[in-house]
Amino acid sequence: MSEVQIFEGAMDKGLEGIVACSTGVSSIQGNTLSYRGYTIEDLAANSTFEEVTFLLWNNRLPSAAELEKFQKSLAAEYALHPDFIKSLKTIPSKDVHAMQWLRTAFSLSSHWDKDANDNSNEANARKAIKMVAKMGTIICAFEAIRNGKEPVAPKADKSIAWNFMYMLKGQEPKSDLVKIFDTCLILHADHELNCSAFATRVTTSSLSDMYSAVTSAISALKGPLHGGANEQVMIMLKKIGTIEKAQEFVKDALAAKEKVMGIGHRVYKNGDPRAAILRKISDKLTAQIGEHKWYEMSILIDDTMNKEKGLMPNVDFYSATVYYSMGIPVDIYTPIFAVSRIAGWIAHADEQYANNRIYRPRGKWVGKTDQTWKPLSQR
Ligand SMILES: CC(C)(COP(=O)(O)OP(=O)(O)OC[C@H]1O[C@@H](n2cnc3c(N)ncnc32)[C@H](O)[C@@H]1OP(=O)(O)O)[C@@H](O)C(=O)NCCC(=O)NCCS
Repeated sequence: MSEVQIFEGAMDKGLEGIVACSTGVSSIQGNTLSYRGYTIEDLAANSTFEEVTFLLWNNRLPSAAELEKFQKSLAAEYALHPDFIKSLKTIPSKDVHAMQWLRTAFSLSSHWDKDANDNSNEANARKAIKMVAKMGTIICAFEAIRNGKEPVAPKADKSIAWNFMYMLKGQEPKSDLVKIFDTCLILHADHELNCSAFATRVTTSSLSDMYSAVTSAISALKGPLHGGANEQVMIMLKKIGTIEKAQEFVKDALAAKEKVMGIGHRVYKNGDPRAAILRKISDKLTAQIGEHKWYEMSILIDDTMNKEKGLMPNVDFYSATVYYSMGIPVDIYTPIFAVSRIAGWIAHADEQYANNRIYRPRGKWVGKTDQTWKPLSQR
């Protein structure tokens, strides 16, 4: 049998510009992001996270009856098994990163699912509902447990966005904030072949199970170059502290060849459409809490980065001050990304299972050759 041809010309660090698979889940054309052909602006203005999840999984919008049924099936899976909650309490949570805890907790959740290792379409459909329904409940359990409190039980007649805000704080959220939070979930639900979606597909391609694929995705999302950037943006803004210091901070960072978090993107070169929507929300919410300075600092950083490097903000930049204005703890920002992006991860896993071939690229050898083993006495 002849050897497989190697296309070295296609090799690039970070696979920039490489098409690694065909996908019908979401697309980026210029600076337009669409899920299943619907623009993000259209969905953010008119849809709900549950409807968008249905869209991502079914390649069409639901009818009213289908949406109601879908919401009910999600609501029936919000709650965590009491034994799982007991186990969650045993995962160390002090001085542990929220994403580190989530990675363990999510993986552990599979132990309460008899479908965990069943890759049939029927079992995957059941798992998909459970995973999306429980992600927010798991994260809010973390917030309760680390503060020595009992996790708040979800309410079956409410949405994922409502429940997240309710379980996180233990009090019923204001409806305008729930709407904004739901918009944030819509904006983060999928993003073509981003790092965590690719991780999902790589794990799925070995015909591993969906829990393993999503655990890989959570691990990829954690990094500061991907989902972890939103947390880093707020840490940076707090470090800068005042509007007067913002420009100087950026110039110093660039001079030191450091990254300014929440800025830049591999694909968008003329702006991330999600950032444009979040920027307006950040303006409004920071003013509402009487801390508009965070928005003003962000604007200065945004402008300076554009002037100095021609780089623009990504989704993580303004989402940081939006979550801050909602009183959400800073280390929960990246887990929120997971509450939403799990919808996209599952759509990618489904697509991969349906048309699978294992991901197995080649590495260009740059190491030593012709080495001969020597006994210890001769080294
Ligand atoms: C998003 C990101 C990972 C894309 O990475 P990439 O496509 O590999 O781009 P590179 O890191 O190669 O950057 C290209 C150039 O822009 C610069 N650059 C990119 N993002 C930058 C940032 N946030 N701050 C400062 N410089 C940045 C790089 O230093 C590099 O400059 P050079 O050509 O002078 O060396 C990158 O822009 C980044 O690290 N941003 C900050 C983290 C972040 O917000 N991540 C969330 C992504 S949604």
